Amino acid sequence: MAGKDNILYDNHGRVMNYLRLAVTDRCNLRCFYCMPEEGIKYVPKNDLLSYEEMERLIRLLATMGIRKVRITGGEPFVRKGMIDFLERITVIEGIEQVHITTNGTMTANLIPRLQKMGIKSINLSLDSLNPDRFFEITRRNVFYKVRETLDALIEAGMPTKINAVVMEGKNEQDILPMVELTKELPISVRFIEEMPFNGSGKDGSGIKWNYVEILSHIRSRYPDLEKIGDRPFSTSQNFRIPGWEGSVGVIPAFSRTFCGTCNRIRITPKGMLKTCLYDDGVFNVRDLLRNGASDEQLRAAFLDALSNRAKNGFEAERNRQFGMPVKESMSTIGG
Ligand code: GTP
Ligand code: 5AD
Ligand code: SF4
Repeated sequence: MAGKDNILYDNHGRVMNYLRLAVTDRCNLRCFYCMPEEGIKYVPKNDLLSYEEMERLIRLLATMGIRKVRITGGEPFVRKGMIDFLERITVIEGIEQVHITTNGTMTANLIPRLQKMGIKSINLSLDSLNPDRFFEITRRNVFYKVRETLDALIEAGMPTKINAVVMEGKNEQDILPMVELTKELPISVRFIEEMPFNGSGKDGSGIKWNYVEILSHIRSRYPDLEKIGDRPFSTSQNFRIPGWEGSVGVIPAFSRTFCGTCNRIRITPKGMLKTCLYDDGVFNVRDLLRNGASDEQLRAAFLDALSNRAKNGFEAERNRQFGMPVKESMSTIGG
């Protein structure tokens, strides 16, 4: 293990111990808040980080204080060889937790295997409990597959969070039924503010459903909604209805109220390091790797990137080289 000097602190004194690794930009859905209907131009395979490259990076970052890895995409399970990769990274020394964010369309049969290899939790993207609205949002008719995954997660007792992006005119009717899921199910249902990473360059400024509105809507039906403790570094503010099994959260992803405690770095499918979701990339790790960089050189590059990190998502947005509105699809970033 490397010495303390190699630990990833940013220039604001925050420790980075959480890596979000997007393993592919491909997805089998076309959620309209993430991608245009015709999809996006996918990255050619050779431009993607290979599994070996990703594994090397995780090993290296584990020596720099990364303890939690979240695998995202696109949809992680559309990439062939995903299960083998997960089996390799769950045993890396220093990595204490591996989590996955998935759309749940390909995972119903995989849950026991994921559980056995020690995946700590699954975050399931699901924006509606109504199959027709699910189709309208995702442009694919596979609600039942996600539902099967949810059932399998509950059956297995795997810690589960549902991520629901709240969108004006699309799924407002789903907020209360989704809250009601937590009556019987020991899961967390989290409502996310919509962000402008929809791949179409349409500006997302001025969302109606910010976290305050979402909460007040839930409170109007459930006035006894009570605050519960949030985990350190949590993106969500969490609540519950007394006596119910699960909990409810809101994620101010657009309002960015949680930046002060941000402990996350991101690596995109093309190997771009992002020190904030709202920046447009700090340096390409893949190019360094392919140019034969040593571990020492890689460590120096990560430390250097963090010595100049934006204080919050608003500053990161202002500093974007390619300006606003953002044109990226969330599937090229991983959320
Ligand atoms: P936990 O590890 O369970 O806390 O999950 P998470 O909320 O960090 O990750 P998940 O992949 O479930 O993401 C939920 C939502 O939070 C997505 O819409 C993400 O884009 C958003 N999110 C996660 N991290 C950040 C962040 O650093 N900034 C912003 N603005 N949004 C984030
Ligand atoms: N705004 C908010 N959340 C988004 N996600 C994808 N695109 C957006 C967006 N434009 C969410 C997905 C997934 C998580 C990684 O990011 O629903 O749960
Ligand atoms: Fe696919 Fe997730 Fe984007 Fe939906 S949000 S299109 S499930 S990558």
